[in-house]
Amino acid sequence: MDPLLVIPRRIEKWALEKPELASLLASEYGDALMKAYDELDLALLYQSVTHGLGHIERTMLFGALIAKNEKLSPADTRDVLLCCAYHDIGRVNDSYDIGHGRQSAEMIRGKEPLRSLFTEPEAAMAAIHSHSIPDGEAEDAPLLYNVKNLDKSTLYTACLKDADNIDRVRIYDLDESFLRFAGTRAMVPLAYWVLEAYLKKHTVLCFGDSNTYGYNPRTGTRYPAYMRYPAVLQRFLGEDYTVIAEGLNGRTTAFPKEGLVWKSGLYAVEPVIASHYPVDTLVIMLGTNDCAAELELEAEDIAGGMEKLIIAARDLLTEKQGYSPRIILVCPPHLEESVLSGPFSEEMNAKSIEVSKRLPELYKELAKKQNAGYLDLDGAIRFSEIDSEHLRPFDTYRVAGMLADLIREQE
Ligand SMILES: [Fe+2]
Ligand SMILES: [Fe+2]
Repeated sequence: MDPLLVIPRRIEKWALEKPELASLLASEYGDALMKAYDELDLALLYQSVTHGLGHIERTMLFGALIAKNEKLSPADTRDVLLCCAYHDIGRVNDSYDIGHGRQSAEMIRGKEPLRSLFTEPEAAMAAIHSHSIPDGEAEDAPLLYNVKNLDKSTLYTACLKDADNIDRVRIYDLDESFLRFAGTRAMVPLAYWVLEAYLKKHTVLCFGDSNTYGYNPRTGTRYPAYMRYPAVLQRFLGEDYTVIAEGLNGRTTAFPKEGLVWKSGLYAVEPVIASHYPVDTLVIMLGTNDCAAELELEAEDIAGGMEKLIIAARDLLTEKQGYSPRIILVCPPHLEESVLSGPFSEEMNAKSIEVSKRLPELYKELAKKQNAGYLDLDGAIRFSEIDSEHLRPFDTYRVAGMLADLIREQE
C-alpha cells in the first residue's frame, strides 16, 4: 500500500467512532475498497489539492459505502470503485471544466492495461464521461462508448456522481438535492466527519532556544533548514504530523536577562501558543541559557522556572483548544569545561557548569510530577566541542530520532 494513502492507515481507528465505517470494514465491500486502494495507480491521478489524491481516496470510500447501501454485486462494486479512482485523470486544471469527464474516459479507452481492469469498461467509460456534465446533456454517452447494457451505465453513473458529489464538502459547496440515493443523503454528516478526520494532523510545537532555532556552532549562523532538529523530526514523523519550530537564541525558562525580557520563555509562551494552537504535543527544551552567570540561578530555580512554564503552557492550551496537550520535557546536555575558554566564556562561569549538571535529576522529577514525557539528552549526547553550547549536525538527527520515538509511543 502506498504510504501516501491516508484512509487505509486511519480507517480502523475511525471505525471505533463511526459504526457505518465499522460495518463497511466488516463486509465484503470493505475488502473490495482495501483491495482497490492497494491497486490504485497514484501516478495516473491528477495532481492537486482539490481534485488529487485526497478527493480520490474519499470518493472511493463513499463509492464503497454506496455500493454496500445499494447492494451491488462484487463485479459492479469493483467497477464503481475503479470509476471513483480514475474519474478525474483527464483534468487539466482545478477550475470549472465540464469536459474533463470525457477526457478521463478517453484516457481509459486508450490505456489498455487500465481499460481491462473493468468488468464492464464501456459502462464505466460512459459513467466517467457523464460525471462532469448535467444529466440532460449526457444522453449520448452510452452511444459514444458502445454500451450494450444501459442499466449498468445508469447504475455506475448514479454511484459515481453521488460518491463524487458528496465530497464537495471539501469545498463547502455540497447541494444535497443533487444526491441521487436516499442512502447518500443520509451520509452527509459522515462526509463532513471524514473530511475533518482526513485532514487532521498531529501538531507538534517545539519550544526552545538556539538549539531549536538551529544555531550552527561552526559558523555562528543558522543550520540550513533541513538540518535543524524540528525539520528532521518532521521528516521522521511523516505526513500525519505538522512540526512547528519555535526556537529563539538565548531563551530561558522564565528568567529575563537585563533588557531582554522577551527572551524569557514564560514571557513568550502566550503569544507563541496563541499563534500556533491547536497543539497536540508540546516539546520544551530549555535550561542552558538559565545557567548564565548573570542570572545567578541555582538548579532548583531553573527547575522551578520550567515548572511555571509547563503549567502556563498547559493551562493556556487547554483553555484555547479545549483539550490538554501532551508535554515532553527535554533536558539539554550539560555545559563542559571548554565553555570557559570558548566563544561564550563571558556568559558562563564555573558555577554555570555545576548547575547544568544538576538539571537532569531535577527535570526528571519535574516531568514525573507534571505528568510529562521526559527526554534526557545529557545521557545521550554532548554539545559541540567548538562552543560547548550547541548541537552538532549529526546530533540534530539523534535528537529528532529520540523525539519521534517518544511522540509515537505517547499516541
Ligand atoms: Fe470530476
Ligand atoms: Fe471528482
